[in-house]
Amino acid sequence: MPSIEPSERIKERTFRQHKQNKVNQAGRRGGAPTRIVRCAARNGRGRPAQMAMVTLAPPGARALDAFTHHGGFALALARGGGDVLAIDENPAAAERAAANARRNELANMRVECGNAFDLLRAFEGRGERFDVVVLDPPALAKRGGGPQGLTTAARAYKELVLRGARLTRAGGLLVACSCSGRVTRAHWDEICADAIADAGRTAQVLSRAGAGRDHPELFGVPETAHLKVWTFRIL
Ligand SMILES: C[S@@+](CC[C@H](N)C(=O)[O-])C[C@H]1O[C@@H](n2cnc3c(N)ncnc32)[C@H](O)[C@@H]1O
Repeated sequence: MPSIEPSERIKERTFRQHKQNKVNQAGRRGGAPTRIVRCAARNGRGRPAQMAMVTLAPPGARALDAFTHHGGFALALARGGGDVLAIDENPAAAERAAANARRNELANMRVECGNAFDLLRAFEGRGERFDVVVLDPPALAKRGGGPQGLTTAARAYKELVLRGARLTRAGGLLVACSCSGRVTRAHWDEICADAIADAGRTAQVLSRAGAGRDHPELFGVPETAHLKVWTFRIL
């Protein structure tokens, strides 16, 4: 009988090899070793997800990009001509998003520096509605956070998606992302389904996207499938 390597060891070896390849590639280019990063803007998730979503958004859509970073989703949406509000709590990120809007002459894109959780609650209180809501928070379930960490993160994700669903006009789009490796695709489905139901809304799933082709998932290493970009039509 051939000996079969336990799957955990195969996974660990493949992941180690993948990281080493990235360091080697960076060395050959003469750059600093590439860290495997988890933020959409830096790892290639953004572009295909943004393109897919922009083709679905109606021209002139009023949009909210609640965790904008440097404005990836917001810039793509603002090209449609509608009013776009981009939020980030990091002043440097918000400033960069605003600079990107100016550079692209998108006067219809406004950037606000603030906490998305608080602002979403405030918008809901004021009865605001958007045609498109994008929620792309940082990884809320940290590695090594234990079962309690995962439960807390799931609760925070659910709150975000619930408020996002309430803020989306009937027929509008809700783009719900998670880049937590600990939240599986099935778990993300569950969190979104719960949140949308508790918001009193129903939804169609228009797409379930992940990493871009320039940052593909390593087959056999589920942790590298951490990017989840679900686009719903909220009814
Ligand atoms: C995953 S990145 C967003 C990437 C972006 N959507 C893109 O495609 O380039 C998460 C961003 O959320 C911001 N952020 C973290 N916590 C926040 C909060 N409570 N409120 C608003 N922004 C927050 C971070 O500063 C970071 O820029």
